[in-house]
Amino acid sequence: MDNKTINGFSKLSKKEKINWLSQSFLKDKPEAVNLLSVYWHSDDERQKRHDEFIENPLSNFYLPFAIAPNFKIDQALYAIPMVIEESSVVAAASNAAKFWLDRGGFQTRVISNIKSGQIHLNYSGEPSVLQRFFTEHKTQLTSSVDALSAGMKSRGGGLMDLTLIDESASLKGYFYLDARFKTADAMGANYINSCLESIAQSFNDLAAKFDGFKSEDLPEVVMSILSNYVPECLVRVSVSCPQSSLAQAGLSGEEFAQKFVRAVDIARTNPKRAVTHNKGIMNGVDAVVLATGNDFRAVEAGIHAYACRDGQYRSLSRAKITQGNFEFSMDLPLALGTVGGLTKLHPMVGVAMSILQEPSAEELMKIVAAAGLAQNFAAVRSLVTTGIQKGHMKMHLLNLLSQNNADEPTKIAAVEHFKNNTISARSVADFVASYSANGN
Ligand code: MEV
Repeated sequence: MDNKTINGFSKLSKKEKINWLSQSFLKDKPEAVNLLSVYWHSDDERQKRHDEFIENPLSNFYLPFAIAPNFKIDQALYAIPMVIEESSVVAAASNAAKFWLDRGGFQTRVISNIKSGQIHLNYSGEPSVLQRFFTEHKTQLTSSVDALSAGMKSRGGGLMDLTLIDESASLKGYFYLDARFKTADAMGANYINSCLESIAQSFNDLAAKFDGFKSEDLPEVVMSILSNYVPECLVRVSVSCPQSSLAQAGLSGEEFAQKFVRAVDIARTNPKRAVTHNKGIMNGVDAVVLATGNDFRAVEAGIHAYACRDGQYRSLSRAKITQGNFEFSMDLPLALGTVGGLTKLHPMVGVAMSILQEPSAEELMKIVAAAGLAQNFAAVRSLVTTGIQKGHMKMHLLNLLSQNNADEPTKIAAVEHFKNNTISARSVADFVASYSANGN
């Protein structure tokens, strides 16, 4: 066995894990080994909290935590916490928030707040027999979650509905039980999965006793799991103003509005553009989802599936001009929680929730959607006026200077110099080299 594999790794102490890693994969990289412990928190208790989140933790991975102020959402004002590495995102969100603050802000509405999970079945018998079994036992199946649901019910949640779906025309022998839930202020993944497993257990017990099934075609549970496709957990966000108040970058309000609408229509039509357009939305969405300790993989998967719900991947947002009024909006499926999960464990998530004034899950849906629409507005606005590189490279300048090991005086001089010069990797490297060569 070479030393690149190991048994019992999880049982080693953190120092032993790093030691093994340094012998096996980082032999000639002492600086990398050193950094792992440099990034430990100085307070052991705080570090322990982070270590307990996952298996085999070695260190912490920092991302900036910022706020985008001046968001007016319905009648409330927010400073929105964002965790993201991309230099221009927070600047763009702040910019768009300020722009819409003066034009009525963001209007939002939670359209529905239902999540679902499925118990996937194999069944080779007569479909009408399975349907009869389901109808006769539906009450017992649904009441199998009662014990798990007491707390959730008191908060207005619980299992809302259970139906049997026949998909055997698409996949031979495939049926599923579709369970719909409300999960109050929790994202609800654990609650939903526990309920599904409980229903699946009852299903098996009841099916074994049901005399309608022949022993050779007893239905079989393949798996039980929540769905991250949440088209019924939907929030609508919009901004609008008279197009005449959109004049900018040498364009009249009408010209700007028309170019903007055209750009959004292109993203609704062309998947190549739609993916990048939606990526701009996700810049805002993910940053807030991360800052608030929510599951960004679930959110990403659900939103992109929603973006192609009619069979083609399209822009999530829509824009139109109606009688001189510019309207920009989108519907976003978002399963979020403000209790449970990481929300009470990660100290910085606690800070984010405090900044947001301890929102409910529905309020957080609205905030995240507004951040997404703001980001989209900022990106498309740049694209149809100056192009994005100007602002992007301006924000990226400090990263390029750091990559070139510029010291503080060089950075200050560079920021001044590049106010009137084009920023590129090459031009920044040249500037740093010549600035140092000249003895500055
Ligand atoms: C960059 O992170 C995001 C954009 O590409 C989005 C867009 O093109 O709409 C600017």
